[in-house]
Amino acid sequence: MALKTCVNSKNHFIFRQLFDSLSCTYTYLLGDLNKKECILIDPVLEQVKRDFSLVNELGLKLCLALNTHMHADHITGTGYLKKLTGCKSAISKASGAQADIYLEDEEQISLGNICLKVLSTPGHTNGCVSYYCKDQHIVFTGDALLIRGCGRTDFQEGDPAILYKSIYSRLFTLPPETVVYPAHDYRGMMSSTISEEMKYNPRLTKSLEKFVDIMNNLNLGYPKQIDKALPANRSCGLHYIPKENLQNTVL
Ligand code: FE2
Repeated sequence: MALKTCVNSKNHFIFRQLFDSLSCTYTYLLGDLNKKECILIDPVLEQVKRDFSLVNELGLKLCLALNTHMHADHITGTGYLKKLTGCKSAISKASGAQADIYLEDEEQISLGNICLKVLSTPGHTNGCVSYYCKDQHIVFTGDALLIRGCGRTDFQEGDPAILYKSIYSRLFTLPPETVVYPAHDYRGMMSSTISEEMKYNPRLTKSLEKFVDIMNNLNLGYPKQIDKALPANRSCGLHYIPKENLQNTVL
């Protein structure tokens, strides 16, 4: 694994979208079949067994577990995956969470032929980033941009005006055909595109003032897992590793 240098290639790329139904979180696997290495974005603790089995079944080595931000609605699977595979963890420096690698805006992540550019997209939290894969025309938007929605801005360091600016300046400036893969969906939608969201997102087709007003009046409930998820995710879930032995699940 190397940071900052990227190899441009569309060959040997494998991609999987995985779902956790309890937190409605998407985890993404990006692999280079030639190098037999892969990355997981936003793994969920309760789904580590599934993800670990899949990675092994595909004959891949997990090298990097990336988080888009310090999640409040689930405990990251990063710590457990590190224990199982020896992979490195990464999160933005601005998140304030612990990891092996601290990412900064515009930084390039390279693994085999996979190249991801870090785009700082704060507003849901200060440390939110999106990961843009130009070669594959895809972007992982975390909780900044959701399908026909966006991440809430009423806890952690949420700020609707900052979120609006992030989405307009960093995501809506990507090529319109770029496919959007968010960290969550609560209605069964799986992906969108930048152009679709620019046209149809009911919050983001509004002015900044109207957007701020909408976001400040969502009256959402207190996140169920926040009190255990935030302390756990500050250390990338390192202290939340089940005692269960996964040896038998390795294929
Ligand atoms: Fe979040």
